[in-house]
Amino acid sequence: MREGDPTRLFDEGLARVEGEYEAAFAAALDEPALRAAAARYIGPNGELTQLLRQVGSLPAESRRAYGARANTLRQRVEHAFEQALAQLRERERRRALDVAPVDPTLPGRWPRPGRLHPTRRALLDVVDVFTSMGFDVADGPEVDRAEYNFDRLGFPPDHPATDMHDSFFVRGGEADRLMLRTHTSTIQVREMMRRRPPLAVVAPGVVYRRDDDATHSPMFFQIEGFLVDRDVSMADLRGVLTVFGERLFGAGTPLRLRPSYFPFVEPGAEADLGCTFCRPWEQPAGARPDCRVCKGSGWLEILGCGMIHPVVFENVGIDPETWTGFAFGMGIDRIAMLRHGIPSIRMLFDNDPRLLGSL
Ligand code: DAH
Repeated sequence: MREGDPTRLFDEGLARVEGEYEAAFAAALDEPALRAAAARYIGPNGELTQLLRQVGSLPAESRRAYGARANTLRQRVEHAFEQALAQLRERERRRALDVAPVDPTLPGRWPRPGRLHPTRRALLDVVDVFTSMGFDVADGPEVDRAEYNFDRLGFPPDHPATDMHDSFFVRGGEADRLMLRTHTSTIQVREMMRRRPPLAVVAPGVVYRRDDDATHSPMFFQIEGFLVDRDVSMADLRGVLTVFGERLFGAGTPLRLRPSYFPFVEPGAEADLGCTFCRPWEQPAGARPDCRVCKGSGWLEILGCGMIHPVVFENVGIDPETWTGFAFGMGIDRIAMLRHGIPSIRMLFDNDPRLLGSL
């Protein structure tokens, strides 16, 4: 037989297709792959299709036999393709049936939406009450000069009053004593130096003290408020704080002022709200002696306040002959604790989602 013998090439072509197609179909993992494999043999340009086209150019005596062989092979390839296709589809169907069935009657899985921390909510609500009365909101640095934390507020250097604040100092030295602010009263000083009266400002923020027990945390939130204008009196202070108490804890919540001492106010006072738990003003018998929150007193201490001391005005360049004002400062964590009946400030910082999610 000669090299270029067309029947020999034809033989080889048929043998190649015959030897390959079954494995090629079996290797196809999905329908497109299977169709591509089939196209290689019986597609318009497939190997077997081309062989069939060449039957006419074979020597006349072998035409019939080769034509028959090629046709039979094409039928087998087509048949194998159909079978492989049916098998693939069956496999697909089973796989679809195997996945866990959907039960549309089961309760859905809710994404747990995040929410604001109770302390943050208390902060925003308190700020809201004061902005609705016309107060601006101011901010200040958490690391501040002792000058703003103590000196300009009328704490004389080394005065025992500074013992009221067990402070974290960042840098010592008389020149620039830097510290974590122990109260938000620093912002009173800063705002009064920065702006001119009349002024009404609240300033919420984090403060730091070397305290650590069930009701004290070394870091906690305060809000400072102050108002400077002509002829401001203690009655204005009382009115503003009463609105605050009622807006946060309900109409009728009583307010009581008790004389107290803070270097930067004169007179100074502590303000108490009627106990928000046993609400004595709503009970015929008054305060409940067994109330675990007010311990039967009927009152809760809520903030410090007073009339801004003339010395503070002088220290910030405001004329105390012309201007008068009140100031107050309160703990926001405590407000959050009272609102939700949380006994320990710790629980606000533990961030247990079971507790926080229930508030
Ligand atoms: N700064 C005080 C503290 O942290 C609270 C305070 C008391 C603020 C009286 C005031 C005030 O503005 O008038 O204990």
